[in-house]
Amino acid sequence: MASGPHLSFDRVSKIYQSADGPVHALDGVTFDVGRREFVSLLGPSGCGKSTLLLISAGLLPKSGGTITIEGKPVQGPQTQLGIVFQSPVLLDWRRVLDNVMLQIEVRRLRRDQYQKRAEQLLASVGLEGFEHKYPFELSGGMRQRVAICRALIHDPPLLLMDEPFGALDALTREQMILDLQKLWLESQKVVFFVTHSIPEAVFLSDRVVVMSPRPGKVEEIFTIDLPRPRHLDIRETKEFAAYAKAIRDIFQAYGVLKDV
Ligand SMILES: Nc1ncnc2c1ncn2[C@@H]1O[C@H](COP(=O)(O)OP(=O)(O)OP(=O)(O)O)[C@@H](O)[C@H]1O
Ligand SMILES: [Mg+2]
Repeated sequence: MASGPHLSFDRVSKIYQSADGPVHALDGVTFDVGRREFVSLLGPSGCGKSTLLLISAGLLPKSGGTITIEGKPVQGPQTQLGIVFQSPVLLDWRRVLDNVMLQIEVRRLRRDQYQKRAEQLLASVGLEGFEHKYPFELSGGMRQRVAICRALIHDPPLLLMDEPFGALDALTREQMILDLQKLWLESQKVVFFVTHSIPEAVFLSDRVVVMSPRPGKVEEIFTIDLPRPRHLDIRETKEFAAYAKAIRDIFQAYGVLKDV
């Protein structure tokens, strides 16, 4: 097996050309995501988080720098990864199981070889018995669970998540965080997770990459040295609070967070 990081960013920049002139979204972004690591990207709105995620997936061209996955430069759409967006984007006319199997069809893989895995994945996120429901029969949290299963069905080593729980209510969000931790601990995949939430990033991550306002640069990288599996109560500990405060202080220094 190859050594070195799974996902690597080296001086990555992005300048969008818009009708109002160039928009400098990312500037010299450099960091690695290791094998089996859970890394969060945290930063203010508009700092380029979604841009970086799309560039990693090869869905958007970069303006400069290098991105590699397993040592190979990303030069076009990548197949060995799964993506989950803020909204689950399910096909309304397809049942839950068929939404998950969509990836298999698009990749022209054999349906019979993945059906069992789809059922197991759905069961692992509490959706046993819902395989034949339509998306409109599910809650927001259940729909997002289906989207996570769809991203994992082809068993990719890397999962990219862009604020996957942003549209959910607070209680469902807590449950999803616990479910994601469990899924990650069991599968040992690499997760690159974009969020606005400091507690969510600290709770889930091995490392949190904090970005500056636009043009997004890596401001600081925090290693979260808290035992796993983490329980929700860990947020009440002084160690957790210290990580959250250190990150909050960065945003306060930037004026992104202001006390009134
Ligand atoms: N297609 C585009 N054309 C021009 N500018 C763009 C385009 N897409 C994004 N931008 C700009 O690039 C910057 C970064 O956008 P991006 O969506 O990556 O931010 P973000 O960190 O994901 O924000 P949020 O937290 O609100 O989702 C923003 O200023 C945005 O307006
Ligand atoms: Mg975004």
